[in-house]
Amino acid sequence: MCGIVAYVGNQTARGILLEGLKRLEYRGYDSSGIAILNGASAYLVKSVGKVEALEQRVSQEGPEGVAGIAHTRWATHGKPTEANAHPHTDCSGRFFLVHNGIIENYLALRKRLSSSGHAFRSETDTEVLAHLIESHYSGDLEAAVRQALMGVQGTFGIAVMHSAHPNQIIVARRGSPIVLGVGKDESLAASDVTALAKHTEQVVYLEDNEVARLEPGQFWITTLDNRAVRREATVLEGGPEAIDRGPFPHFMLKEIFEQPEAVENALRGRLNHAEGVAKLGGLESVLDPLRQARHLIIISCGTSYYAGLYARYVFETLTDLTVETELASEFRYRKLNLRQNTVVLAISQSGETADTLAALREAKRKGALVLGLVNVVGSTIARETHAGVYSHAGIEIGVASTKSFVSQLTILILMALLLGRGRDLSFEEGESILRDLEKIPEQIREVLEQSDRIHELATRYCQAQHFLYIGRKYQYAIALEGALKLKEIAYIHSEGYAAGEMKHGPIALIDPSFPTLALAPEHGSYDKVVSNIQEIRAREGRIIAVTSWGNTRLAPLVDDLIEVPHTRGLLAPLLTVVPLQLFAYHCAVLRGCDVDKPRNLAKSVTVE
Ligand code: F6R
Repeated sequence: MCGIVAYVGNQTARGILLEGLKRLEYRGYDSSGIAILNGASAYLVKSVGKVEALEQRVSQEGPEGVAGIAHTRWATHGKPTEANAHPHTDCSGRFFLVHNGIIENYLALRKRLSSSGHAFRSETDTEVLAHLIESHYSGDLEAAVRQALMGVQGTFGIAVMHSAHPNQIIVARRGSPIVLGVGKDESLAASDVTALAKHTEQVVYLEDNEVARLEPGQFWITTLDNRAVRREATVLEGGPEAIDRGPFPHFMLKEIFEQPEAVENALRGRLNHAEGVAKLGGLESVLDPLRQARHLIIISCGTSYYAGLYARYVFETLTDLTVETELASEFRYRKLNLRQNTVVLAISQSGETADTLAALREAKRKGALVLGLVNVVGSTIARETHAGVYSHAGIEIGVASTKSFVSQLTILILMALLLGRGRDLSFEEGESILRDLEKIPEQIREVLEQSDRIHELATRYCQAQHFLYIGRKYQYAIALEGALKLKEIAYIHSEGYAAGEMKHGPIALIDPSFPTLALAPEHGSYDKVVSNIQEIRAREGRIIAVTSWGNTRLAPLVDDLIEVPHTRGLLAPLLTVVPLQLFAYHCAVLRGCDVDKPRNLAKSVTVE
């Protein structure tokens, strides 16, 4: 998370930077800061809380200057204080730096820099970058940044200024986005194109391990090892919504491709390897009642409901809680006999879903401790729950939930770990789940590489009138979610079923025109799913199976195979859901559907 905006040009920088920050506030909101150069003199101010607080101060003080950098922070290393807010400076106070991402070797770097005399003022990982650049500086800012970054492990999107170079801003990225905006006599950079929209239609996306030098109206890109890169600016069309799509034809596809980052954001700062447990700041105030909890009821709607169904298995595996998952629209009208020590968890991307809100109010009325898992910061559900966790998936514009779903799954695992470690889950088990979780973003990237192949599958299957999706245990919820994606986006009738239920009715539907998508990664119930596949095969049903890399045993039994990387069964849904989203997306595009605005649906369902 966090947001960066940078400007160098011929206009007063402060208004442009503040307006950019406000557009980025959804990425971080606990503190912010701004640095402006006016010739060789520098203005630096930071503020805790919303960007509004910073804006008031800056507007009162009215700093002049045509170059500046600004940042809105979502704390990872160190509390949200002024000292920890960005921009950070070096010992000389002449360098200014803002950063998104995490510097993994910051402790080693900090130790080394401290022993050579650098004095640190914050608890952040970011500050080491300012001192590291200072240690490499001998008159050439860009060269110093490049050399410093060569010694850095971790992820970064940065913007750097030095008061001896008032017409220059250096930006660089690895794993954290930076986009450049080029205008007449002005250049901008930001972590998200929305911050640039008002000023320029010409944008350039920086790639990993690239550095750019910005001067008014001009930019130069090089790789970290100093090879020149030529990249033409792309012209943005449409309103601010279209601007956000970047190079993707639809928001849904963009958001599917943002899932590795969504999982990284969900995990950031929340893993405690030393104790094999998750750190969830939003639940700290209720840790005691959570320790006493005996029953958990999860309430939600649609895709969020499927996240809750998955969570039932996860909580049952990692804790000794009795878990129920309920559709909020049903729960709200039930005669509730909540037992003592019942915790209710409301899951919602928007935080505004009317049924979920009504259900949580009913649970509160009955005396339950009510928690929230919400994406939209400050939304009604977030405000009305006793405590909770934000998923930090970023704004989701596509009506069909994709990245918010994988974020929800990720955080539900962290919640279950937190509760489980307070009970009988061992350190070894907790720690080993954390390690496997950290591999998931990279493994999702590997699945995303198969988008073209899934497009090819979609061309062969998209004319089907009906589809069946089957899975067991952790994959049951994914079967339901896959079927929902196909029906809501591609308008193909599709049903998700627990694979074991096939023989109790749905198998009657199977014939060569009724394909099945079977979720069959090689875990606990794999053999049972294979038996169900055999049953479909015997009725001449066409089958696409999603299984683990290299599982060729399934090939003779199915028509098409999609393979996903190996992980433990509990985490496999984070991978198997991705081809299902891509399949629905490609089918929808091939059928000429309006992917981002499917008929009859709205992003936030605020009516009953
Ligand atoms: C489906 C989808 C919906 C939502 C549902 C709940 O892709 O997006 O089913 O999941 O309307 O919305 P939230 O999570 O905002 O409460």
